[in-house]
Amino acid sequence: MSGATETLHKPVMLAEVMQVLGPRDGEIYIDATFGAGGYSRAMLESAECRVYAIDRDPQVVMLADALARDFPGRFLLLTGCFGDMLSLMEAEGVASVDGIVMDLGVSSMQIDQPDRGFSFRFDGPLDMRMGSCTLDAATLVNHLPADELADILYQYGEEKASRKIAAAIVAAREIAPIETTTQLADIVRSVVRKTDKIDPATRTFQALRIKVNDELGEIERALASAPHLLRPGGRLIAVSFHSLEDRIVKRFLRPQSKAISRHDPHFMLQQEEAVNAHFDLPQSKPIHASDEESYVNPRARSAKLRVAIRNEVPVLHGESET
Ligand SMILES: C[S@@+](CC[C@H](N)C(=O)[O-])C[C@H]1O[C@@H](n2cnc3c(N)ncnc32)[C@H](O)[C@@H]1O
Repeated sequence: MSGATETLHKPVMLAEVMQVLGPRDGEIYIDATFGAGGYSRAMLESAECRVYAIDRDPQVVMLADALARDFPGRFLLLTGCFGDMLSLMEAEGVASVDGIVMDLGVSSMQIDQPDRGFSFRFDGPLDMRMGSCTLDAATLVNHLPADELADILYQYGEEKASRKIAAAIVAAREIAPIETTTQLADIVRSVVRKTDKIDPATRTFQALRIKVNDELGEIERALASAPHLLRPGGRLIAVSFHSLEDRIVKRFLRPQSKAISRHDPHFMLQQEEAVNAHFDLPQSKPIHASDEESYVNPRARSAKLRVAIRNEVPVLHGESET
């Protein structure tokens, strides 16, 4: 893992995650975003449980090997996307689990490796792939029509200057292909003035990363799998880092939990969905990191933890209960 071990990812809200998961002997958990394995290790240390970890990044295998050695027979890394967790677990012969934990986004190891191309803080190839099975950012930036690029920047980066940036990208690539993080960041900075504390390129990089890895689609697929995998009493835990991620989790859980409002314009639709409610929400508001953690780990500042408990709703038509 070139350089990846230099800055190991510090697990965010580890104490809070462990508290709501409450690992117990004999239980089975999915750590859907293995990363540096901080959550997996804590689960394995706190109970005689089994952990199936998932990560799409082949570079984490070395870190997972260490856990497999330390906890023989209790830990397995599955390389793949968490959106496919149902089939990944099926392939292992596991029909149901007691907890699913998702710590969304990229790891510090990925961000801090210049050759992964996630960050404009370093000069590197415009890649941004967490795994290898998607198109890289350079391909999108150099080939998509301006309006598609603008839509990506607007939808996934909430970038108000999306059309201006897309036009600048198209103008620049007509002269020479855009191949590096620095080239792209400079193009964005040339048309967007720095008005707040963040670099003008921040939203463009976030948008492209989300698109390259289909991050939001992955979250939707994983959430849809959760009711099929979790046993009654099983805990679903999601830690998100920006509003687009959190909105998907919140919208999924609201009708699922029956906590719907008559004043919501989608009331009728939600009511129908509530019939299929699979979860209870111990609390409707997200949990935030402590001030102490946010102080020592700035990444924790934007973290929101949501938890839901699989209830005992009877099996519905077309649903395979485990
Ligand atoms: C924030 S880090 C997780 C850190 C981890 N909790 C720890 O304590 O070290 C996110 C990890 O999830 C992986 N990941 C993100 N989206 C994924 C997806 N859709 N499928 C599988 N892995 C994914 C990334 O490759 C990254 O390694």
